[in-house]
Amino acid sequence: MTATKPIPNTAPTTAAPIGDHLEIKDSRTGKAYTIPITDDTIRSADLKQIKVKDDDFGLMGYDPAFMNTASCRSAITFIDGDKGILRYRGYPIDQLAEKASFLEVAWLLRHGELPTQAEYNQFTHDVTFHTYAHENIKQFVEGFRYDAHPMSMLCAAVAALSTFYPTAKNIFDEHERDIAFIRLIAKMPTIAAFIYRHMKGMPYVYPDNSLPYAENYLSMIARMSEPKYEANPVYARAIDILFILHADHEQNCSTNAVRAVGSSHVDPYSAVAAGIAALYGPLHGGANEAVLRMLQEIDHPKNIPAFIDSVKSGKGEHRLMGFGHRVYKSYDPRAKIVKKLCDDVLKIAGMSKDMEIAVELERIALSDEYFVKRKLYPNVDFYTGLIYRAMHFPTDYFTVLFAIARTAGWMAQWEEMLKDKEQKIARPRQIYTGRAERSYKSALDYRHLIKK
Ligand code: CMC
Repeated sequence: MTATKPIPNTAPTTAAPIGDHLEIKDSRTGKAYTIPITDDTIRSADLKQIKVKDDDFGLMGYDPAFMNTASCRSAITFIDGDKGILRYRGYPIDQLAEKASFLEVAWLLRHGELPTQAEYNQFTHDVTFHTYAHENIKQFVEGFRYDAHPMSMLCAAVAALSTFYPTAKNIFDEHERDIAFIRLIAKMPTIAAFIYRHMKGMPYVYPDNSLPYAENYLSMIARMSEPKYEANPVYARAIDILFILHADHEQNCSTNAVRAVGSSHVDPYSAVAAGIAALYGPLHGGANEAVLRMLQEIDHPKNIPAFIDSVKSGKGEHRLMGFGHRVYKSYDPRAKIVKKLCDDVLKIAGMSKDMEIAVELERIALSDEYFVKRKLYPNVDFYTGLIYRAMHFPTDYFTVLFAIARTAGWMAQWEEMLKDKEQKIARPRQIYTGRAERSYKSALDYRHLIKK
């Protein structure tokens, strides 16, 4: 669908354009075009009419890494990176982190409005009812080596869920989407906890459905022989707040992966597994793990200046992990909340050497011209790793906690994509830079291997 009004291809236009528009003159042909502007955006497809010859493909936009390309319309999350604003469905993140629960936020992300009491009660009941995973999932996790990376295990286990719920592929059936949403929100903590226990060589703990969401997760992580596990309330609230902060972040790498894979109309478990794979990377959700490793490498506050120098002289090869963001060019609003949370948790767990290094690193980096000039501020992952470390989660497990939370956002974004009439299977163009046609002449001789 395009409202473009191409100018007759013979001469530059003098026609009065209607509404906001861009006037483009092609120096190759002298022809002029008007391209409508809506929401401060032009449609790249409108450029396709700009050609030298009739059989040309037409002009394309080239935007590696989507630096300046909107791939969808979305009503879920708003970010103003310069002002450090993050809102879910219009609600500021700090208000949600202070007052809401993760399940309330998960509902809000998907449905667009806060739940009524009745809706919340029903949703909480449904999620609680679905916390148990099929016993075969337990065996599936048991099949991994003890030192398998938890994100690889999570990715595989979530993809495997599609084999247990084959009707989930009926993605245009609202009931199937409802139940897939509930199942994923409910089972992620269970699967994540099974993975944790597998890493530790400890028996798996089944969900305790008398407990709230975060407490139940902590029970499956930490419970030993006690008949009922009571999580430290500061830890439980910290987990719930971290889940809220990580629940969505508009069109980031993993959400884009979920949308792109989901655009092929695959089932939601497979699409979310793609999101988990994307989140695993050190430039995305894997950054909280990378921050902890960096702090351990620095080892002592006295080594910070040398480390900062190595980052600055590394021409981008060595990065200060937990700093910088594609959209936030000021303090990440989530980082402020996480820093305060970190203080609360460390009051109980005790100040760690890593925390001392982190605070000093932040102080030095924020006053260093290199970071100031590039608008590199701490992002959400700078302090989350310290909280997880204080709670004794293994370093390579940190991103799993991120994935539990982001499932809410992935599912909301996936459903929004499905309902968007303008969306089609995601299929970018390329600029071909390879060889022109040539004839095949093999230098190999393997014909003796082919059985007659
Ligand atoms: N340390 C040192 N220099 C940096 C850093 C950093 N963390 N981040 C960016 N830069 C420099 C970069 O070298 C470049 O410098 P120059 O202009 O001289 O070439 C400039 O800043 C712009 O960097 P960029 O790579 O164009 O920025 P980007 O928007 O493509 O990258 C980022 C964003 C998050 C990938 C990057 O800042 C980074 O690698 N940060 C460290 C990893 C990290 O903490 N990631 C977690 C992101 S928040 C969680 C999430 O939402 O996934």
